[in-house]
Amino acid sequence: MAQIKIDASRRSGTVDPKIYGGFIEQLGRCIYGGIYEEGSPLSDEHGFRKDVMEAVQGLHLPVLRWPGGNFVSGYRWTDGIGPVEQRPRQMELAWHSVESNRFGTDEFMRYCEVMHIEPYLCVNMGTGTMDEARSWVEYCNGTEDTYWANLRRQNGHPEPYNVKYWGLGNEVYGNWQIGHLTAEDYVKKAREFAKVMKWTDPSIQLVGCGENGWTAWDQTVIEGLAPFIDYYSIHLYTGSTDYYSNVLAPALSDFALDNCRTTIERVRFNQKIEHPIYVAFDEWNVWYRHRSAESALEEQYDLSDALAVSSYLNSFIRHSDTVKMANLAQLVNVIAPIFTSQEGLFLQTIYHPLRLYAEQMQAITLDIHVDCKELTLTADTDKSAWAHSVASLGPFKVLDTTVTCDASGHELAIAVVNRDLEQAHTTTIQFADPTTITHGVAYEVNASETTTTNSFEQPDAVQVHEQRLNIENSTYSYTFPAHSLTMLRLHIE
Ligand code: AHR
Repeated sequence: MAQIKIDASRRSGTVDPKIYGGFIEQLGRCIYGGIYEEGSPLSDEHGFRKDVMEAVQGLHLPVLRWPGGNFVSGYRWTDGIGPVEQRPRQMELAWHSVESNRFGTDEFMRYCEVMHIEPYLCVNMGTGTMDEARSWVEYCNGTEDTYWANLRRQNGHPEPYNVKYWGLGNEVYGNWQIGHLTAEDYVKKAREFAKVMKWTDPSIQLVGCGENGWTAWDQTVIEGLAPFIDYYSIHLYTGSTDYYSNVLAPALSDFALDNCRTTIERVRFNQKIEHPIYVAFDEWNVWYRHRSAESALEEQYDLSDALAVSSYLNSFIRHSDTVKMANLAQLVNVIAPIFTSQEGLFLQTIYHPLRLYAEQMQAITLDIHVDCKELTLTADTDKSAWAHSVASLGPFKVLDTTVTCDASGHELAIAVVNRDLEQAHTTTIQFADPTTITHGVAYEVNASETTTTNSFEQPDAVQVHEQRLNIENSTYSYTFPAHSLTMLRLHIE
């Protein structure tokens, strides 16, 4: 029988709610036809889709990254302010589309304001200049009688937006990016951007552009930018048609975070840097089916993807001392948990773990011990380039588990992804100290097939099933069904 051993006094980190953050990009139907559809009977007076807002509310997003993504490397933010009818339509090179600029800075800020979400802006380090970046900071945050702050006032926003989080470019390491640079050239350029942006508003926090957390780029950029940044970004997308490759691939996130933390702490030590540098995992998701702009990246998620997403969240919680922000890429239609048509929406399978974690996970991570069957991955079944890397990280515990509690220590949330394709695992939950479980609830995400998807026709094929637990004493066992996510909420005394 499997065991989860919990010592409630071994607190290993504080979960930053920003790990449940989101990301929207001017790409396909993420914004236009997703969160924003002027003239639709489903939209409010600002053009925001009300049904989408309600679904987004369920995810409890604390922070939202915008405007890209690859899009940002050719984006002139000044095209997206002022009277909408006067904004220029521009050719957009990242995704080969035409950008109407109907949704710009003030629309994004309004969305964040009405949704009570903290904005996170990424600046253009492709075609954009240092001056454009610092002017954007001044437009958003300026309080003096200056040109850019006055322009914001003229555009109807007397108060500063106080945007705290600013990204220094997107995926500058990639040759698909406008303005692709070597790590050394990026460091030189980003330092200058950082200086003028912070001189414009010293209260902002800067995010350096990272790769996967373990590459040569990451070493060079962390060394070069550490004095200037508060966060360092990691991007990771995984996925496979092979079930085990898909659900085990988020082990790469653990690998990325372990490596990135080591590099950051080594550099902080060597350079005597006193301020902390955290990881912003500012793009992550399962993404392997619709990779091209032609398909508008409209991935249809199944149950196995929902389990992979759960394991990503477990990875962030396990590394809660390192990762203080994460942004699921993306929010609507484009590799996203919410899928719209002009008539309505449905929630994709991955929506359910995202919501469960944001709602049920508690603030303090506990150090746990899990005894269970282990899985070994053979990369042969999955021909992808990274399958060998994932396989080398094994063996993997079949029950991917994290446990959190609240400050009082009485409220416990136990997240268990049973990745076994065939077997349920009956598991005892043991406490180091004498403990009584007074009551509990189990939330389960599962379906008969791991390939089950949600759709307009069957919107609830994969959903959350809630069950009150019958707990009679302090020794408790629970059977985690095959291919499922279970979130146990226990009250202990
Ligand atoms: O999220 C889709 C794309 O993936 C983003 O635009 C880019 O940053 C990444 O490569």
